[in-house]
Amino acid sequence: MTQEQAKLPGSNRDRKRDKLLSKRNESLLGGGERRIEAQHNKGKLTARERVNYLLDPDSFEEIGAFVKHRSTDFGLDKQHYLGDGVVTGYGTIDGRLVYIFSQDFTVFGGSLSETHAEKICKIMDMAMKNGAPVIGLNDSGGARIQEGVVSLGGYADIFYRNTLASGVIPQISAIMGPCAGGAVYSPAITDFISMVEHTSYMFVTGPNVVKTVTNEEVSSEDLGGASVHSAKSGVAHLTAPNEIACLDQIRALLSYMPQNCEEQAAMMDYSLGNEYRYGLRDVVPDNPNQPYDIREVIKDVIDAGSFFEIHRKFAENIVVGFARLAGRSIGIVANQPAFLAGVLDVKSSQKGARFVRFCDAFNIPLLVFEDVPGFLPGTDQEWNAIITNGAKLLYAFCEATVPRITVITRKAYGGAYDVMNSKHIGADLNFAWPSAEIAVMGAKGAAEIIFKSEINSAKDPVQAWAEKEAEYAGIFANPYRAAERGFIDEVILPEETRFKLIKGFKMLENKVDHLPRKKHGNIPL
Ligand code: HXC
Repeated sequence: MTQEQAKLPGSNRDRKRDKLLSKRNESLLGGGERRIEAQHNKGKLTARERVNYLLDPDSFEEIGAFVKHRSTDFGLDKQHYLGDGVVTGYGTIDGRLVYIFSQDFTVFGGSLSETHAEKICKIMDMAMKNGAPVIGLNDSGGARIQEGVVSLGGYADIFYRNTLASGVIPQISAIMGPCAGGAVYSPAITDFISMVEHTSYMFVTGPNVVKTVTNEEVSSEDLGGASVHSAKSGVAHLTAPNEIACLDQIRALLSYMPQNCEEQAAMMDYSLGNEYRYGLRDVVPDNPNQPYDIREVIKDVIDAGSFFEIHRKFAENIVVGFARLAGRSIGIVANQPAFLAGVLDVKSSQKGARFVRFCDAFNIPLLVFEDVPGFLPGTDQEWNAIITNGAKLLYAFCEATVPRITVITRKAYGGAYDVMNSKHIGADLNFAWPSAEIAVMGAKGAAEIIFKSEINSAKDPVQAWAEKEAEYAGIFANPYRAAERGFIDEVILPEETRFKLIKGFKMLENKVDHLPRKKHGNIPL
């Protein structure tokens, strides 16, 4: 047959190809319409629909579509679905190369067999060699029970690659159905987890095991649903009301990151205009004990509408997320005075540290807004290792070599002053607003301790305390003592903050800084 004949519509070759394609598509869709409908009825897309929606149109190239499992036990030799429950390949998002795997719940519950794992490992290896992100769409009943240990081995092969890829290429996980047992550890090692509300859950042991072991009765949703992991455990960085929103979120998230640790995130076009933001004058209340929402500050400083918050519902006393400043991708870490007065505690330290380390690994400059009254006191905090956990945030900042700028909007008290990207631990530029108070502790508490005997022996102790408080505040409740020492580079007006930051990050864009040679540090885990 000539080439021309081969292209003729209706030729034998065409008919044969069409038949093969439809057979292949049926197999790839996990057993036809019935299974697809079942997936849709649960409010879920199929594995292939997810991939097609997430990637740029027509960009997906599948790898391993004809892979079949090799099991023979429990009648599996008679059940074969091409692709073996996972769609793998590569494509683009906004024109950028990404590698993707998408588990197909319609094939053996998306369970992970030896060959299923091999397919995922193959694209992870390619992603590493070609320096591009990996996105995993998880929807799986866990290890393929009929396969036994080879399935467990397959998981370990993936965990190993997740770990080696950590800090080299961005890894993003979406949980779009079950993710149970040891299966949770692959997403857990990746950089970001997004969960779909009400249709996804993650747990190491499910409700039945929990009931047997602890006698607790709990639903899958209450044990490991999106709301639990986004607010209580912090396992999930993001949630979405449905799958489409989840996939949109992943596209947006990726836009702030470079392809790999050797590259910078893409700059968006931006022309300088009037960069003064006068609304910032009114955000911090005159009363130092009155809360305000630090997001108001963030919103006015960054490029309009560019804030992409991470871990929004977890440890709300610290706010972290990506943003753009004059088109440049930056990571923001900010104390939140509107929640627990912005104190640092166990969870907020963990949240901040993880985010700082991601930004540093992928060359994303860090901007810190500081308004922190200190670490949260109490037995709960001490027994839950605020020492070790607070040290994580400290360590993460100390180790970060990306451009780092801090703006103190109000309180910078105690050890938290050191931790929150102070000059002493390597920040490049430290600004303070005139409202800043940089001291070992608040004036009231400080006066009570250092003037204890004078206050107690005074005729009017209350009056004496107030006077001493005012004296201490007069000396330290301002940024100028720190500025005299050079710990603060400049006291700036709120309205000029955005412009100062744009110029600062521009000045720092070619920063080179190296850590001492070592195998790796030993962050207090
Ligand atoms: C093989 C599985 C499977 C699995 C589900 N299926 N999980 N097949 N291995 N792990 C199959 C079912 O037999 C069924 O096949 C189809 O997938 C759909 O499952 P259903 O149970 O009908 O669906 P649903 O009611 O939605 O329940 C989903 C589920 C449940 C909650 C995930 O299937 C389940 O509990 N599965 C087992 C979960 C589990 O214990 N996994 C092992 C975890 S231990 P048919 O042919 O009927 O359609 C683990 C170790 C990893 O993963 C360790 C790594 C270190």
